[in-house]
Amino acid sequence: MLSKTIESALNKQIRIEAESSQIYLAMAVWAEVKGLEGVANFMYDQSDEERDHMLKLVKFVNERGGHAHISDLSAPNVTFNSFQEMFEKLLEHETFVSASINELVHITLQEKDYATHNFLQWYVSEQIEEEAMARTILDKINMIGDDKGGLYLFDRDIQQLTVVSSAAINPAAE
Ligand SMILES: [Fe+2]
Ligand SMILES: [Fe+2]
Repeated sequence: MLSKTIESALNKQIRIEAESSQIYLAMAVWAEVKGLEGVANFMYDQSDEERDHMLKLVKFVNERGGHAHISDLSAPNVTFNSFQEMFEKLLEHETFVSASINELVHITLQEKDYATHNFLQWYVSEQIEEEAMARTILDKINMIGDDKGGLYLFDRDIQQLTVVSSAAINPAAE
């Protein structure tokens, strides 16, 4: 059985994961409209993954005798000045999510809820991967700068990145 403190902390994270999904969906749409199909597909995949993160939390809360709260969401940014800015926002957001997961883990220790603590370890590892990926992408984008040819190649290469990352993150698909 979840304590009220843990239940409300998990519900807060449910909202953050749902908002993450919307943020990346808006980025996917923006990239698609700008003609970068590889980047768009990468962002659509990220959006789906965030929805999975949210659902995993929803099911956990309900299974442990709580009630998952499906709330309203803040509207995401829908336009960006550049791809560089968009990927900066991606890294910024993942860093924010990592901090939120860390805080959640901290609360489970305070509350001596070791089952939830154990459950959250998956999210801790996931955030390490997602931050690393966002940093790798941003480094590449910073190298490319305004070079159109570079961006064209990057759009093609990011599709490979998507394949590698989803295989690594989702071992069930093997
Ligand atoms: Fe997430
Ligand atoms: Fe994420």
